Amino acid sequence: MIKIQVPATSANLGAGFDALGLALGFYNYVEMEESDHIDITSADEIQVPSDASNLIYTAANDLYEICGKKLHGMKIVQTNNIPMARGLGSSSACIVAGLAGANNMLGNPLTQDDLVDLAAQIEGHPDNTAPALLGGIVTAVFDGRKVHWVKQEVYTKLRFAAVIPDFELKTEKARACLPAEISHKDAVYNLSRAALFSASLLTGKFENLRTAVHDKLHQPYRMELIPRCREVFDIAYNHGAYGVFISGAGPTIMAIVDEENTFFTGKMRFSLENAGIHGWQVHDLLIDNEGTKIINE
Ligand code: HSE
Repeated sequence: MIKIQVPATSANLGAGFDALGLALGFYNYVEMEESDHIDITSADEIQVPSDASNLIYTAANDLYEICGKKLHGMKIVQTNNIPMARGLGSSSACIVAGLAGANNMLGNPLTQDDLVDLAAQIEGHPDNTAPALLGGIVTAVFDGRKVHWVKQEVYTKLRFAAVIPDFELKTEKARACLPAEISHKDAVYNLSRAALFSASLLTGKFENLRTAVHDKLHQPYRMELIPRCREVFDIAYNHGAYGVFISGAGPTIMAIVDEENTFFTGKMRFSLENAGIHGWQVHDLLIDNEGTKIINE
């Protein structure tokens, strides 16, 4: 069996809705091999679809079809560290694992660009799938068929604290609450901040991040779906975060923190409990610059 390591991802990064994303050092693992039947299990206690509707399997099957090969079945063992429906790219991780694994098993007929395009076609937007494949921070434009992307490796003194609620929020619901149209003024508000975000992150102008993470496309609407969200933002800023944003479609809230802010995670946990916000986890993460890897070749 081959073993694939896929990073968690955080999309949007505030103002870069459907355009910006980064990979985090927190991984799902998928072991897979061809078989004459479908045999899908979890290596942990997480329930996953065990039939042909499994996202890893459907992605692998798509790639086989594109390459003119018939897939009769597959043995898949999933280790699901990335929590599901929390805004950390768990479905993208499945799609990417299926594509990268199937491509490897066929001798890599598709290029990395092909995989980035195909993953975005399956997911519908590129801001989780592209960083999951490529690592680093990715700026991506999806024209419906092709992804035009830039990956930048990030070597900063930053850490990312993922504040993960104890409830799920499905992406479909978090997209359904968004307005169909916005004003020209709001469009300028967002595009200027999205551009400021990656330039500031990469050049070390971290004092800009608090302004750069604001947006008018999705976060004001999604905050209504995430109880206590505004309080968590305030607590994170009170403990010195450079910027705080809803990760992807939520409900996870991501705080960008200087590595010298050593006690941030512990102080967040303490303050959340004191505020009566129980059951939320705080994970201290670094950026992953490598993306998806086959780790047992
Ligand atoms: N850009 C996507 C969204 C990411 O915000 O809906 C979540 O899949």
